[in-house]
Amino acid sequence: MTEEAQQDLFGADEPPRIELAEGFFLLKAFVDTAPLLAQVQQVAAAAAFRHMQVGGGKQMSVAMTNCGPWGWTSSTAGYRYSATDPQTGRPWPAMPARFMDLAQKAASAAGFPGFEPDACLINRYAKGASLGLHQDRDERDLGQPIVSVSIGAEAVFQLGGLKRSEPLRQLPLRDGDVLVWGGPSRLRFHGVKALKPLPGGPDTRHNLTFRKAQ
Ligand code: SIN
Ligand code: FE2
Repeated sequence: MTEEAQQDLFGADEPPRIELAEGFFLLKAFVDTAPLLAQVQQVAAAAAFRHMQVGGGKQMSVAMTNCGPWGWTSSTAGYRYSATDPQTGRPWPAMPARFMDLAQKAASAAGFPGFEPDACLINRYAKGASLGLHQDRDERDLGQPIVSVSIGAEAVFQLGGLKRSEPLRQLPLRDGDVLVWGGPSRLRFHGVKALKPLPGGPDTRHNLTFRKAQ
């Protein structure tokens, strides 16, 4: 089916929903991000963005923080979900009601009703920051989808298959676009190419990734 035909099926009044693979959806211009960005700043005031370390001791180019009961953290010891911010020892800031509402609406729009995220990873990309190809597989219940919200500068998302070696599809993501993946696509490899802000546009991209971690 063509992308156009799939959009038609969703109805003219709804924002376009494009199924890129079985269980992998792009909701174009799904949300007004201005209020989201204000809340990102509030979260960051309590749990600062930081460049986490990965296994080999390298620092990630993407800066991260979290809100909600569980936060994703990485150090030379490996990565895990933690109920507290290792930098402060305090619980992560609460997940704003607006975030929860958005995650649930997006999941439902993609055919995953009843999503109850308990973790929201917030990524911040400056010029040149990228996220290597990976799977989201640290969550306990892989029956729950991932909801990923793009804010600010446009980025190129790389959508792979269930094996690392499979070809990658390049997917431009704009401000307000939301990806939802679950079911047979839950463990697809994905990543984000080095951010190249467009002249005159925002120089930073934020991304909210909602998960049911525990
Ligand atoms: C992620 O895979 O955690 C983030 C994806 C994105 O920034 O779009
Ligand atoms: Fe991911």
